[in-house]
Amino acid sequence: MQKLPGFRDFLPDDCAARNYIFAHWREVARRYGFVEWDGPILEPTELYKKKSGSEIVDQLFTFTDKGEREVAMRPELTPTLARVTAAHEREFKKPLKWFSIGRFFRFEKQQRGRLREHFQLNCDIIGETALAADIELLALCIDLLRAFGLTENDVVVRISNREFWTDFLRERNVPADRWDNLLQVIDKFGRESREKTIEKLGELADLVLKVLSEGGKSEKLDRLVDGLRDRGLAEFVDIDVQIVRGLAYYTGIVFEVFDRAGNLRAIAGGGRYDNLIGLLSNGAISMPAVGFAVGDVVLGELINEIPRARAAMQKATASDRKIDIYIVIAKEERRADALRQIQQLRDVGYRVDYPLASEKVGKQFQTAEQLGARVAVLFGDEWPELKLKDMTTAQQELVPYDHLLAHLQAQSSLSS
Ligand code: HAM
Repeated sequence: MQKLPGFRDFLPDDCAARNYIFAHWREVARRYGFVEWDGPILEPTELYKKKSGSEIVDQLFTFTDKGEREVAMRPELTPTLARVTAAHEREFKKPLKWFSIGRFFRFEKQQRGRLREHFQLNCDIIGETALAADIELLALCIDLLRAFGLTENDVVVRISNREFWTDFLRERNVPADRWDNLLQVIDKFGRESREKTIEKLGELADLVLKVLSEGGKSEKLDRLVDGLRDRGLAEFVDIDVQIVRGLAYYTGIVFEVFDRAGNLRAIAGGGRYDNLIGLLSNGAISMPAVGFAVGDVVLGELINEIPRARAAMQKATASDRKIDIYIVIAKEERRADALRQIQQLRDVGYRVDYPLASEKVGKQFQTAEQLGARVAVLFGDEWPELKLKDMTTAQQELVPYDHLLAHLQAQSSLSS
């Protein structure tokens, strides 16, 4: 049996890497005062049809459930967030600063950095129109990358303002129902052939290509960069009007994070979406919002490409996997005593392992080493004393059975 294309098996090393990424995501989001929430993995397909844009709707994993409902596995979190915050609008003081870590599904074409399931950290601020919210989120996004040892030489946040393009289209009397399509063409610029782009842009092609090559000005973007400069983070950002984002609901500032070397797909993306909550609640609740999501796939690839970041991850995951104590059962008649002791040690929080079946002592010490145990405790001829071996210095000592816990706790390297 083969796994489905675009889906992953997570072997223990992969899970350790995933946990490392999640732990940093959680820690940095909390540093910024964000609280965690989550939504369901299945939603009515309709939720995404309203305003996520045709690209994501084409990529939905959909089916009809046994109650004849059209449902979709979530491709992103933002529509769920809009639904949930509209429903609970009165219960929370604004602005809401919410984060979530979860799994998402998109039927993508197989390519590097894009799978059919991935994890995202989403961070959103709901109920605040001030540019300070956009700046705060960008700073959070940058700090998330810095937490993995990535610097301004490794990553760049390319920021733009969708209003720049919507003003441009309005000034040229382009009907509003064409805007979403045109923005998608600009979003794909560089990824699609030039001929295809020109064909799709039609009569606007020359003008749009001119703006794309010359860049554009936006006072809001200048203020945003100033805000990041105040925090010493301006080196991480470039203004780039080519960024418009594929999702249809963005209304203002938009940004995407890329590796500086330009080898990989986007690591993160987001922006302001002031109308989505109003739209999904049929006008019942209107709240401005700004947010972004960072994915685990490209971030993982980048961490592995940058030696400094890879070393930090390997160090953290190796130490996380280690056990504290290995119990060597040299005499089978001591097994019951050993198990009583193991239970006590685990109860106070030590990571303890031992052989499930009778095994040669040499083999057991080998296992102790492989598992990274700091101490091996031998139950054998010395009973009622135990032989302790410090696995780093190889020093040995005898400790009475009922003093073991106190003895281990007194060693600072083994405080549980
Ligand atoms: P997005 O740009 O579609 O934005 O996805 C965010 C990130 O998720 C991407 O930059 C990428 O790292 C990762 N990602 C997306 N699709 C895949 C895939 N098929 N395979 C691997 N990684 C992927 C959103 O989803 C918005 N809802 C973000 C947002 C939150 N906007 C406001 N709040």
